[in-house]
Amino acid sequence: MQDGSGRIVVQNLTKNFGQVAAVQNLSFHVEPGSVTGFLGPNGAGKTTTLRMLLGLVRPTAGHSTINGQPFERLGNPGRVVGAVLEAQGFHPTRSALNHLRVYAAAMGLPDQRAHEVVQLVGLGGAAHRAAGGFSLGMKQRLALATALLGDPQVLVLDEPANGLDPEGIAWLRTFLRTFAASGRTVLISSHLLAEVEQTIDQVVIISRGQTVFYGMLDDLRRSQQSRVLVQPADASAFVSALQAAGITGIQPMPDGRVAVTDATIQQIGDVAAKAGVATYGMQEEKVDLEQLFFRLTSGQYSAPGYAQPPQQGGYALPAQAYQQQNPYQQQQYQQPPQQAYQQQPYQQQAYQPPPQGYEQPYQPPVQESSPYQPPASDPTPAPQQDSTGQGGDA
Ligand SMILES: Nc1ncnc2c1ncn2[C@@H]1O[C@H](COP(=O)(O)OP(=O)(O)O)[C@@H](O)[C@H]1O
Ligand SMILES: [Mg+2]
Repeated sequence: MQDGSGRIVVQNLTKNFGQVAAVQNLSFHVEPGSVTGFLGPNGAGKTTTLRMLLGLVRPTAGHSTINGQPFERLGNPGRVVGAVLEAQGFHPTRSALNHLRVYAAAMGLPDQRAHEVVQLVGLGGAAHRAAGGFSLGMKQRLALATALLGDPQVLVLDEPANGLDPEGIAWLRTFLRTFAASGRTVLISSHLLAEVEQTIDQVVIISRGQTVFYGMLDDLRRSQQSRVLVQPADASAFVSALQAAGITGIQPMPDGRVAVTDATIQQIGDVAAKAGVATYGMQEEKVDLEQLFFRLTSGQYSAPGYAQPPQQGGYALPAQAYQQQNPYQQQQYQQPPQQAYQQQPYQQQAYQPPPQGYEQPYQPPVQESSPYQPPASDPTPAPQQDSTGQGGDA
């Protein structure tokens, strides 16, 4: 039987669609009383993961549970988990209230519950209007209302802030935080960290189907250490000198500069001077959370001929450089990869030919991002109405 814990566990989940590795060995858990953000760019594998969690897609490997049970084995899923995968599936001419009545009836709930949830999501004024005329934000609210019908312990929402105006986002934030504060569990996905930053406590960031960070948002914030960008005359000699001085937080930059994360400008200057390596400039860079997110997840769609516009400092770390749990893993210095394309025209430095011996870093993009495509090869039926509350009272 389900354990009533409100805990979501995702364990080594993997899903391949033919050649596409949509989700690769993903593990995380979500505790009750918190809001967990499941973040990653479009195509990162968020929806696929949530669909596996909700029993809509069969994993290639791994498993997931809610309340200690796979979704299929929850006796009354609509009472345990409310889910919204995509805000669609409403009969266009049916009113919001009637839509909710249909689902309430299917779950064995009284009509009264439809009235309650339509108020709860702030759609009371539009309860008798046809859902077909709703804005995207209103559809999001109606889908949320549907998910809430069974008064579930766990809420799973895929991109719930999509289409919401700032007021709607603020409303959703208050709603979800209150919901979680009552001891329930909330897992929400987003491709925009900024959209949910104020809402979430815990964060799972994925890129190309793999975890790049998993932990408390506060820990991610704390990891935003500044770094010093140095333009040495001789990068190899400079790096050797740093290493000899016990400085190991060293990252090569595509533009020939070297980023140092565990030393101050003064320390670096001293080391360089002692080693007799000229430096042509040092700049301290403080990374903000949004940049960090971008760096953690960048590179998914990089292709020859197109480079990510540089952030401050003109550098985006390849996602592969990161290990789970530690976005600023200290690494042994490696020669920076050769760029497959020209330097950015707005790069500050004069062009320098890359040193010899570089390897081509380019890997073909995994798969073009696309908004939901009907499953081509996967036998799992597409979610119709995504509230999982259907017939859940059995
Ligand atoms: N049914 C499917 N058949 C084939 N490929 C799919 C299917 N669903 C998703 N994908 C692919 O899996 C990858 C992850 O997609 P998705 O989980 O929708 O990402 P996200 O929700 O993070 O945007 C993408 O490359 C997408 O094209
Ligand atoms: Mg998605």
